[in-house]
Amino acid sequence: MTTTEKMMSEHKFFHGKNILITGGTGSFGRAFAKKLLTQFSPNKVIIFSRDEWKQWEMKGSSPIFQDSRMRYFLGDVRDAKRLSRAFNEVDIVIHAAALKQVPAAEYNPSEFVKTNVLGAMNIIDAAIECGVKKVLALSTDKAVNPVNLYGATKLCSDKLFLAGNAYVGARGHPTFSVVRYGNVAASRGSIIPLWLKMVAKGKKSLPVTDPRMTRFWITLDEAVNFVIECAQVSQGGEVFVPKLPSVRIVDIAEAIAPGEPIEVLGVREGEKIHELMVSMDDSRHTLDFGNYFIIVPEFTFQDKALLNRFLGERKHATLSEGFVYSSDNNPQWLSTEDIQKQIKQLTTHEDY
Ligand SMILES: NC(=O)c1ccc[n+]([C@@H]2O[C@H](COP(=O)([O-])OP(=O)(O)OC[C@H]3O[C@@H](n4cnc5c(N)ncnc54)[C@H](OP(=O)(O)O)[C@@H]3O)[C@@H](O)[C@H]2O)c1
Repeated sequence: MTTTEKMMSEHKFFHGKNILITGGTGSFGRAFAKKLLTQFSPNKVIIFSRDEWKQWEMKGSSPIFQDSRMRYFLGDVRDAKRLSRAFNEVDIVIHAAALKQVPAAEYNPSEFVKTNVLGAMNIIDAAIECGVKKVLALSTDKAVNPVNLYGATKLCSDKLFLAGNAYVGARGHPTFSVVRYGNVAASRGSIIPLWLKMVAKGKKSLPVTDPRMTRFWITLDEAVNFVIECAQVSQGGEVFVPKLPSVRIVDIAEAIAPGEPIEVLGVREGEKIHELMVSMDDSRHTLDFGNYFIIVPEFTFQDKALLNRFLGERKHATLSEGFVYSSDNNPQWLSTEDIQKQIKQLTTHEDY
Protein backbone atom coordinates (compact mmCIF):
# COMPACT_ATOMS: atom_id res chain seq x y z
CA MET A 1 0.00 0.00 0.00
CA THR A 2 1.41 3.45 -0.89
CA THR A 3 1.61 6.16 1.78
CA THR A 4 -1.34 8.01 0.18
CA GLU A 5 -3.45 4.84 0.06
CA LYS A 6 -2.56 4.15 3.68
CA MET A 7 -3.60 7.67 4.71
CA MET A 8 -6.89 7.35 2.80
CA SER A 9 -7.75 4.03 4.43
CA GLU A 10 -6.78 5.43 7.86
CA HIS A 11 -9.05 8.36 7.20
CA LYS A 12 -11.96 6.12 6.23
CA PHE A 13 -11.43 3.88 9.22
CA PHE A 14 -12.39 6.58 11.77
CA HIS A 15 -14.95 8.27 9.50
CA GLY A 16 -18.34 8.71 11.20
CA LYS A 17 -17.35 6.59 14.20
CA ASN A 18 -18.07 7.24 17.86
CA ILE A 19 -14.78 6.85 19.71
CA LEU A 20 -14.53 6.81 23.49
CA ILE A 21 -11.20 7.32 25.27
CA THR A 22 -11.05 6.22 28.91
CA GLY A 23 -8.48 8.43 30.64
CA GLY A 24 -9.13 10.96 27.89
CA THR A 25 -7.82 13.88 29.99
CA GLY A 26 -4.40 12.22 30.45
CA SER A 27 -1.31 12.87 28.32
CA PHE A 28 -2.15 10.14 25.82
CA GLY A 29 -5.89 10.83 25.75
CA ARG A 30 -5.55 14.52 24.95
CA ALA A 31 -3.02 13.93 22.18
CA PHE A 32 -5.12 11.11 20.73
CA ALA A 33 -8.34 13.16 20.82
CA LYS A 34 -6.58 16.10 19.18
CA LYS A 35 -5.26 13.88 16.37
CA LEU A 36 -8.70 12.35 15.77
CA LEU A 37 -10.40 15.75 15.57
CA THR A 38 -7.78 17.43 13.38
CA GLN A 39 -6.78 14.64 11.01
CA PHE A 40 -9.78 12.31 10.84
CA SER A 41 -13.54 12.66 10.64
CA PRO A 42 -15.09 10.91 13.64
CA ASN A 43 -18.75 11.48 14.51
CA LYS A 44 -18.05 11.85 18.25
CA VAL A 45 -15.00 11.77 20.51
CA ILE A 46 -15.98 10.97 24.09
CA ILE A 47 -13.65 11.68 26.98
CA PHE A 48 -14.30 9.38 29.94
CA SER A 49 -12.55 10.19 33.25
CA ARG A 50 -13.25 11.02 36.90
CA ASP A 51 -12.07 14.54 37.57
CA GLU A 52 -14.40 17.33 36.40
CA TRP A 53 -11.65 19.91 36.83
CA LYS A 54 -9.27 18.11 34.42
CA GLN A 55 -12.11 17.88 31.87
CA TRP A 56 -12.92 21.56 32.30
CA GLU A 57 -9.26 22.50 32.02
CA MET A 58 -8.87 20.33 28.89
CA LYS A 59 -11.91 21.94 27.25
CA GLY A 60 -10.53 25.42 27.95
CA SER A 61 -6.99 24.62 26.84
CA SER A 62 -7.63 24.62 23.09
CA PRO A 63 -10.46 25.53 20.67
CA ILE A 64 -10.05 21.99 19.28
CA PHE A 65 -11.38 20.58 22.55
CA GLN A 66 -14.50 22.75 22.21
CA ASP A 67 -15.34 21.09 18.88
CA SER A 68 -19.04 20.16 18.61
CA ARG A 69 -18.06 16.49 18.21
CA MET A 70 -16.46 16.41 21.70
CA ARG A 71 -18.29 14.92 24.70
CA TYR A 72 -17.07 15.02 28.29
CA PHE A 73 -18.36 12.09 30.32
CA LEU A 74 -17.59 11.88 34.03
CA GLY A 75 -17.16 8.34 35.29
CA ASP A 76 -14.88 5.85 36.96
CA VAL A 77 -13.77 2.60 35.30
CA ARG A 78 -14.48 0.95 38.67
CA ASP A 79 -18.19 1.71 38.10
CA ALA A 80 -19.57 -0.93 35.71
CA LYS A 81 -23.01 0.68 35.42
CA ARG A 82 -21.57 4.02 34.43
CA LEU A 83 -19.41 2.39 31.76
CA SER A 84 -22.47 0.70 30.25
CA ARG A 85 -24.16 4.10 30.04
CA ALA A 86 -21.06 5.69 28.49
CA PHE A 87 -20.56 2.93 25.87
CA ASN A 88 -24.05 3.35 24.40
CA GLU A 89 -23.62 3.64 20.57
CA VAL A 90 -19.82 3.67 20.85
CA ASP A 91 -17.90 1.96 18.01
CA ILE A 92 -14.32 2.07 19.30
CA VAL A 93 -12.99 2.23 22.87
CA ILE A 94 -9.39 3.25 23.52
CA HIS A 95 -8.67 2.28 27.11
CA ALA A 96 -6.00 4.65 28.47
CA ALA A 97 -7.28 5.16 32.03
CA ALA A 98 -4.88 3.77 34.61
CA LEU A 99 -3.07 4.43 37.82
CA LYS A 100 0.59 4.28 36.80
CA GLN A 101 3.06 5.62 39.36
CA VAL A 102 5.31 2.70 40.43
CA PRO A 103 6.00 3.85 44.04
CA ALA A 104 2.30 4.70 44.60
CA ALA A 105 1.39 1.17 43.46
CA GLU A 106 3.74 -0.41 46.01
CA TYR A 107 2.13 1.60 48.82
CA ASN A 108 -1.51 1.38 47.61
CA PRO A 109 -1.74 -2.00 45.86
CA SER A 110 -5.48 -2.48 46.28
CA GLU A 111 -6.23 0.89 44.63
CA PHE A 112 -4.19 -0.16 41.59
CA VAL A 113 -5.96 -3.53 41.45
CA LYS A 114 -9.36 -1.77 41.58
CA THR A 115 -8.58 0.64 38.73
CA ASN A 116 -6.23 -1.35 36.50
CA VAL A 117 -7.63 -4.89 36.96
CA LEU A 118 -11.29 -4.54 38.02
CA GLY A 119 -11.57 -1.55 35.68
CA ALA A 120 -10.40 -3.74 32.77
CA MET A 121 -13.01 -6.38 33.68
CA ASN A 122 -15.74 -3.73 33.72
CA ILE A 123 -14.66 -2.38 30.34
CA ILE A 124 -14.76 -5.84 28.76
CA ASP A 125 -18.25 -6.54 30.15
CA ALA A 126 -19.64 -3.14 29.16
CA ALA A 127 -18.12 -3.37 25.66
CA ILE A 128 -19.72 -6.79 25.09
CA GLU A 129 -23.05 -5.68 26.56
CA CYS A 130 -23.20 -2.48 24.47
CA GLY A 131 -22.05 -4.00 21.16
CA VAL A 132 -18.84 -1.95 20.87
CA LYS A 133 -16.91 -3.02 17.72
CA LYS A 134 -13.32 -2.65 18.83
CA VAL A 135 -11.39 -2.14 22.08
CA LEU A 136 -7.70 -1.27 22.25
CA ALA A 137 -6.13 -1.28 25.71
CA LEU A 138 -2.85 0.51 26.38
CA SER A 139 -0.16 -1.47 28.17
CA THR A 140 3.44 -0.93 29.20
CA ASP A 141 6.82 -2.65 29.06
CA LYS A 142 6.50 -2.90 32.86
CA ALA A 143 3.86 -5.63 32.30
CA VAL A 144 6.51 -8.00 30.89
CA ASN A 145 8.02 -10.22 33.62
CA PRO A 146 6.78 -7.62 36.12
CA VAL A 147 8.77 -6.75 39.23
CA ASN A 148 6.40 -4.08 40.56
CA LEU A 149 2.69 -4.01 41.32
CA TYR A 150 1.90 -1.50 38.58
CA GLY A 151 3.40 -3.87 35.98
CA ALA A 152 1.61 -6.84 37.54
CA THR A 153 -1.78 -5.10 37.34
CA LYS A 154 -1.14 -4.18 33.69
CA LEU A 155 -0.18 -7.79 32.92
CA CYS A 156 -3.49 -8.94 34.48
CA SER A 157 -5.30 -6.29 32.47
CA ASP A 158 -3.61 -7.44 29.21
CA LYS A 159 -4.54 -11.07 29.89
CA LEU A 160 -8.14 -10.09 30.66
CA PHE A 161 -8.49 -8.17 27.39
CA LEU A 162 -7.03 -11.00 25.33
CA ALA A 163 -9.33 -13.52 27.04
CA GLY A 164 -12.26 -11.17 26.35
CA ASN A 165 -12.15 -12.27 22.69
CA ALA A 166 -13.47 -15.68 23.75
CA TYR A 167 -16.71 -14.19 25.14
CA VAL A 168 -18.01 -12.32 22.12
CA GLY A 169 -19.85 -15.26 20.55
CA ALA A 170 -21.18 -15.49 16.99
CA ARG A 171 -21.53 -11.70 16.70
CA GLY A 172 -17.70 -11.57 16.39
CA HIS A 173 -17.25 -8.26 18.17
CA PRO A 174 -15.99 -6.44 20.12
CA THR A 175 -12.44 -7.42 19.27
CA PHE A 176 -9.98 -6.81 22.10
CA SER A 177 -6.31 -5.99 21.42
CA VAL A 178 -3.46 -4.60 23.49
CA VAL A 179 -0.85 -1.99 22.52
CA ARG A 180 2.32 -2.13 24.60
CA TYR A 181 5.09 0.47 24.60
CA GLY A 182 7.76 1.91 26.91
CA ASN A 183 8.29 5.18 28.79
CA VAL A 184 6.91 8.18 26.93
CA ALA A 185 9.73 10.73 26.62
CA ALA A 186 9.13 13.93 28.61
CA SER A 187 5.70 12.75 29.80
CA ARG A 188 4.12 14.05 33.03
CA GLY A 189 6.16 12.96 36.09
CA SER A 190 9.03 11.49 34.01
CA ILE A 191 12.74 12.26 34.52
CA ILE A 192 13.16 14.69 31.63
CA PRO A 193 10.86 17.45 33.00
CA LEU A 194 12.17 16.69 36.50
CA TRP A 195 15.82 17.06 35.50
CA LEU A 196 15.13 20.13 33.37
CA LYS A 197 13.52 21.75 36.39
CA MET A 198 16.52 20.82 38.59
CA VAL A 199 18.97 22.32 36.10
CA ALA A 200 16.83 25.46 35.80
CA LYS A 201 17.03 25.81 39.60
CA GLY A 202 20.85 25.62 39.40
CA LYS A 203 21.46 21.96 40.34
CA LYS A 204 24.67 20.69 38.78
CA SER A 205 24.80 16.89 39.35
CA LEU A 206 21.66 15.01 38.29
CA PRO A 207 20.43 12.07 40.40
CA VAL A 208 20.60 8.72 38.55
CA THR A 209 19.42 5.55 40.27
CA ASP A 210 21.83 3.27 38.36
CA PRO A 211 24.29 4.31 35.62
CA ARG A 212 23.76 0.98 33.75
CA MET A 213 20.08 1.73 33.25
CA THR A 214 18.55 1.70 29.74
CA ARG A 215 15.01 2.43 28.54
CA PHE A 216 12.99 2.32 25.33
CA TRP A 217 12.25 5.76 23.87
CA ILE A 218 8.92 6.78 22.33
CA THR A 219 7.43 10.24 21.92
CA LEU A 220 3.77 10.93 22.62
CA ASP A 221 3.15 11.65 18.95
CA GLU A 222 4.72 8.32 17.97
CA ALA A 223 2.60 6.52 20.59
CA VAL A 224 -0.59 8.14 19.22
CA ASN A 225 0.34 7.27 15.61
CA PHE A 226 1.11 3.71 16.60
CA VAL A 227 -2.27 3.27 18.34
CA ILE A 228 -3.98 4.71 15.24
CA GLU A 229 -2.17 2.15 13.07
CA CYS A 230 -3.02 -0.70 15.47
CA ALA A 231 -6.69 0.33 15.63
CA GLN A 232 -6.92 -0.16 11.88
CA VAL A 233 -5.18 -3.50 11.56
CA SER A 234 -6.27 -5.18 14.81
CA GLN A 235 -8.53 -8.20 14.55
CA GLY A 236 -8.55 -9.18 18.23
CA GLY A 237 -6.03 -11.07 20.35
CA GLU A 238 -2.90 -9.12 19.39
CA VAL A 239 -0.35 -7.58 21.72
CA PHE A 240 1.22 -4.95 19.47
CA VAL A 241 4.81 -3.94 20.30
CA PRO A 242 6.46 -1.12 18.30
CA LYS A 243 10.14 -1.26 17.35
CA LEU A 244 11.72 1.65 19.24
CA PRO A 245 15.20 2.99 19.88
CA SER A 246 16.82 2.57 23.29
CA VAL A 247 18.55 5.20 25.41
CA ARG A 248 21.08 5.04 28.22
CA ILE A 249 19.89 7.04 31.23
CA VAL A 250 23.38 8.52 31.63
CA ASP A 251 23.11 9.82 28.03
CA ILE A 252 19.88 11.61 28.95
CA ALA A 253 21.68 13.18 31.95
CA GLU A 254 24.56 14.20 29.67
CA ALA A 255 22.11 15.69 27.15
CA ILE A 256 20.48 17.81 29.87
CA ALA A 257 23.58 18.75 31.91
CA PRO A 258 26.59 18.31 29.57
CA GLY A 259 29.92 17.66 31.26
CA GLU A 260 28.45 17.58 34.78
CA PRO A 261 28.88 14.63 37.17
CA ILE A 262 25.92 12.41 38.12
CA GLU A 263 24.82 11.48 41.63
CA VAL A 264 24.19 7.69 41.94
CA LEU A 265 21.25 6.93 44.26
CA GLY A 266 20.84 3.16 43.90
CA VAL A 267 18.01 1.22 42.22
CA ARG A 268 14.55 2.07 43.63
CA GLU A 269 12.01 -0.45 44.83
CA GLY A 270 10.22 -1.98 41.84
CA GLU A 271 12.66 -0.56 39.28
CA LYS A 272 14.44 -2.62 36.58
CA ILE A 273 17.91 -1.93 35.15
CA HIS A 274 16.61 -2.72 31.64
CA GLU A 275 13.02 -2.90 30.38
CA LEU A 276 11.64 -5.81 28.41
CA MET A 277 8.99 -5.72 25.68
CA VAL A 278 9.09 -9.27 24.33
CA SER A 279 10.42 -11.91 26.73
CA MET A 280 12.16 -15.06 25.48
CA ASP A 281 9.07 -17.11 26.37
CA ASP A 282 6.73 -14.72 24.56
CA SER A 283 9.04 -14.59 21.53
CA ARG A 284 8.18 -18.25 20.72
CA HIS A 285 4.74 -17.03 19.64
CA THR A 286 5.68 -13.55 18.39
CA LEU A 287 5.92 -12.46 14.74
CA ASP A 288 7.74 -9.56 13.11
CA PHE A 289 5.64 -7.15 11.00
CA GLY A 290 8.42 -4.76 9.97
CA ASN A 291 7.97 -1.73 12.20
CA TYR A 292 6.31 -3.71 15.00
CA PHE A 293 5.94 -7.16 16.57
CA ILE A 294 2.71 -8.96 17.40
CA ILE A 295 2.65 -11.37 20.32
CA VAL A 296 0.08 -13.92 19.12
CA PRO A 297 -2.03 -15.81 21.70
CA GLU A 298 -0.28 -19.17 22.29
CA PHE A 299 -3.29 -21.32 21.47
CA THR A 300 -3.76 -19.49 18.16
CA PHE A 301 -0.08 -19.82 17.32
CA GLN A 302 -0.14 -23.59 17.85
CA ASP A 303 -3.14 -24.19 15.56
CA LYS A 304 -2.31 -23.69 11.86
CA ALA A 305 -5.91 -22.98 10.80
CA LEU A 306 -6.46 -20.51 13.63
CA LEU A 307 -3.12 -18.82 12.93
CA ASN A 308 -3.89 -18.44 9.21
CA ARG A 309 -7.24 -16.90 10.05
CA PHE A 310 -5.60 -14.61 12.62
CA LEU A 311 -2.91 -13.44 10.18
CA GLY A 312 -5.17 -12.98 7.14
CA GLU A 313 -3.29 -10.92 4.57
CA ARG A 314 -0.80 -9.56 7.09
CA LYS A 315 2.80 -10.07 5.89
CA HIS A 316 5.26 -11.13 8.58
CA ALA A 317 8.58 -12.77 9.40
CA THR A 318 9.38 -15.27 12.14
CA LEU A 319 11.85 -14.56 14.95
CA SER A 320 15.06 -16.46 15.69
CA GLU A 321 15.12 -19.02 18.52
CA GLY A 322 15.78 -17.32 21.88
CA PHE A 323 14.88 -13.82 20.60
CA VAL A 324 14.44 -11.19 23.33
CA TYR A 325 13.39 -7.59 22.82
CA SER A 326 14.81 -5.63 25.75
CA SER A 327 16.10 -2.08 26.09
CA ASP A 328 19.73 -3.26 26.45
CA ASN A 329 19.49 -5.79 23.61
CA ASN A 330 18.34 -3.47 20.83
CA PRO A 331 20.05 -2.70 17.52
CA GLN A 332 18.66 0.86 17.60
CA TRP A 333 20.11 3.51 20.00
CA LEU A 334 19.79 7.27 20.39
CA SER A 335 23.05 9.20 20.90
CA THR A 336 23.37 12.09 23.36
CA GLU A 337 23.05 14.49 20.40
CA ASP A 338 19.86 12.74 19.19
CA ILE A 339 18.43 12.98 22.70
CA GLN A 340 19.35 16.66 22.96
CA LYS A 341 17.57 17.38 19.66
CA GLN A 342 14.48 15.41 20.67
CA ILE A 343 14.25 17.09 24.09
CA LYS A 344 14.44 20.48 22.39
CA GLN A 345 11.65 19.54 19.99
CA LEU A 346 9.47 18.00 22.70
CA THR A 347 9.82 20.82 25.21
CA THR A 348 9.16 23.56 22.66
CA HIS A 349 6.06 21.77 21.31
CA GLU A 350 2.78 23.66 21.87
CA ASP A 351 1.35 20.75 23.92
CA TYR A 352 4.32 20.47 26.34
N1 LIG B 1 3.15 7.65 30.19
C1 LIG B 1 3.93 6.63 29.90
O1 LIG B 1 5.17 6.72 29.93
C2 LIG B 1 3.31 5.29 29.50
C3 LIG B 1 4.13 4.29 28.97
C4 LIG B 1 3.55 3.08 28.59
C5 LIG B 1 2.18 2.88 28.75
N2 LIG B 1 1.39 3.86 29.30
C6 LIG B 1 -0.03 3.59 29.48
O2 LIG B 1 -0.74 4.54 28.69
C7 LIG B 1 -2.00 4.84 29.32
C8 LIG B 1 -2.19 6.35 29.38
O3 LIG B 1 -1.14 6.92 30.13
P1 LIG B 1 -1.01 8.49 30.34
O4 LIG B 1 0.43 8.80 30.40
O5 LIG B 1 -1.91 9.22 29.41
O6 LIG B 1 -1.61 8.59 31.82
P2 LIG B 1 -2.05 9.92 32.63
O7 LIG B 1 -1.56 11.13 31.95
O8 LIG B 1 -1.69 9.68 34.06
O9 LIG B 1 -3.64 9.88 32.51
C9 LIG B 1 -4.42 8.92 33.15
C10 LIG B 1 -5.87 9.20 32.82
O10 LIG B 1 -6.68 8.18 33.44
C11 LIG B 1 -7.76 8.79 34.14
N3 LIG B 1 -8.13 7.89 35.22
C12 LIG B 1 -7.38 7.46 36.26
N4 LIG B 1 -8.10 6.63 37.03
C13 LIG B 1 -9.32 6.52 36.45
C14 LIG B 1 -10.50 5.81 36.78
N5 LIG B 1 -10.57 5.03 37.86
N6 LIG B 1 -11.58 5.93 35.97
C15 LIG B 1 -11.54 6.72 34.87
N7 LIG B 1 -10.45 7.42 34.51
C16 LIG B 1 -9.36 7.32 35.30
C17 LIG B 1 -7.19 10.13 34.58
O11 LIG B 1 -8.18 11.12 34.80
P3 LIG B 1 -8.92 11.30 36.23
O12 LIG B 1 -7.85 11.28 37.27
O13 LIG B 1 -9.66 12.57 36.12
O14 LIG B 1 -9.87 10.13 36.33
C18 LIG B 1 -6.41 10.52 33.32
O15 LIG B 1 -7.31 11.02 32.36
C19 LIG B 1 -2.00 4.13 30.67
O16 LIG B 1 -2.73 2.93 30.52
C20 LIG B 1 -0.53 3.78 30.90
O17 LIG B 1 -0.41 2.60 31.66
C21 LIG B 1 1.92 5.07 29.66
